[in-house]
Amino acid sequence: MPDAIALFSSSRRNGNTGQFLDRIAAELRVEIVDLASKRISQYDYEHRNRGDDFEPLMRRVLAFDRIILASPVYWYALSPPLKVFLDRITDFLELPELVDEGRRLRGKTAYVVCTSIYEAVPTSFIGPLADTFDYLGMHLGGIAHANCRDGYLPSKHDVEASEFVRLLKSSTALRR
Ligand SMILES: Cc1cc2nc3c(=O)[nH]c(=O)nc-3n(C[C@H](O)[C@H](O)[C@H](O)COP(=O)(O)O)c2cc1C
Repeated sequence: MPDAIALFSSSRRNGNTGQFLDRIAAELRVEIVDLASKRISQYDYEHRNRGDDFEPLMRRVLAFDRIILASPVYWYALSPPLKVFLDRITDFLELPELVDEGRRLRGKTAYVVCTSIYEAVPTSFIGPLADTFDYLGMHLGGIAHANCRDGYLPSKHDVEASEFVRLLKSSTALRR
């Protein structure tokens, strides 16, 4: 079983965020799921989309204690497919046959891996994520951010990647 699952969403698999995540995953056992390969439609109040890829993916996510969300900052916000994934978690909070499974999110640790073209992650990006994790009873375990103003540069971003790997490895269950 890998150490963590990473839900990755960017408009390009091998762009800045993809390379940054791959660098992190090279030192950890991470199962990377590219949301571009999944068919997950927007939240539907009538739940007419229950046959899409969301429920199986969510069940896979629930098998992990550490969940990484990886996204570039696009217009101060998350990549849209990742936002849709978060919206769909609502299914597990309101469908009677899913709520018991949904409760298993409580106590899990969420991590954020992101890139932008500024030194700091905007609060408009991290704030809603932190509030969402809080609402779901999850802990925010850490954030890895790379300023990719000049693109993804392994020599420059190695520091952030290594720090994040150290942080994730130091989480109790990973001490071996
Ligand atoms: C549509 C779009 C919107 C962006 N908006 C922001 C932004 O609001 N703040 C920022 O710092 N960078 C912004 N950027 C730059 C990206 O965050 C940055 O280049 C990132 O590393 C791209 O990652 P990727 O290669 O995985 O797409 C934007 C880029 C695009 C394509």
